[in-house]
Amino acid sequence: MNLNGIKLTWLGHATFRIQTPKRKTVLIDPWVMGNPACPDSEKNVSSLDTMLITHGHGDHIGDAVEIAKKHNPKIVGIPELCGWLSKKGVQNLAEMNKGGTQQVEDIKVTMVHADHSCGILDGDTLVYGGEACGYVIEFENGVKIYHAGDTNVFGDMAIIRDLYAPQIAMLPIGDHYTMSPREAAYACNLLKPQTVVPMHFATFPVLTGRPSELAKLVKGIEVYEMKPGQTAS
Ligand code: NI
Ligand code: MN
Repeated sequence: MNLNGIKLTWLGHATFRIQTPKRKTVLIDPWVMGNPACPDSEKNVSSLDTMLITHGHGDHIGDAVEIAKKHNPKIVGIPELCGWLSKKGVQNLAEMNKGGTQQVEDIKVTMVHADHSCGILDGDTLVYGGEACGYVIEFENGVKIYHAGDTNVFGDMAIIRDLYAPQIAMLPIGDHYTMSPREAAYACNLLKPQTVVPMHFATFPVLTGRPSELAKLVKGIEVYEMKPGQTAS
C-alpha cells in the first residue's frame, strides 16, 4: 500500500484513524469504547481534528457525541445526521450531501453513495438519520482513499472510479449487514483500486467474510489485511 507519508490505523470494524501529511488526525466512524474489536490501548482518543461519519447506526456513531464534545473536531456528515448531533449539543458540524466536495483542514472530502439503511437509535426511539454514504478523501500528497461505509455493491461504483480514481478502497466484507467477499470482489472490478483494505468483518460472529476469501477472488489488486490497532504508513 502506497501511503506517501499518511499513517493509517485500523481500530477495528469500520473505524479508522488517519494522520495526514500535515499531522492532522482524522477519525472515520467513531466507535471505539464500545467496539469489541478495538484494542484497549486505542479506546481513549487523545486528539482529533476531523471526524467523518458514514451513517447513524450504533456501530458507526457509538462514541461520536462523547468524542466530539471532548475534542471539538470538524464533523462531516449528511444533514439529517448532523441535525441529530446538533440536538445532542455537538458543534463544529460541516454537513454536506452526496456528490459534494468540501475542504476540511488539509483534506478534500467528497461524499458518495452507499447502498444501505440508516436510522439512529436514540434511547427507545428510532430517528431518521438521512441516507448512508461513503467518502472519497483526497490528501495533499495525491493519495485518494475511498471509505465505502456499510454498503452492498452498486453499479455506480464505476462512477466513483471514473470521477475520483481512489488508489485505496476500504470495503466491508463481513456479509450479513454488508457485502460479503463475493460482492466486494465485484466492487473491486468496478473500482479498480491498487489496494483494498477489508473492514466490517469478524467483529461479531455473523460477520463471517474474511480477507483471504476476497484475495482468492480478485486479480491484480493488493488485498491488505490489517489487524485492529495496526498502523500502515
Ligand atoms: Ni450500518
Ligand atoms: Mn455497520
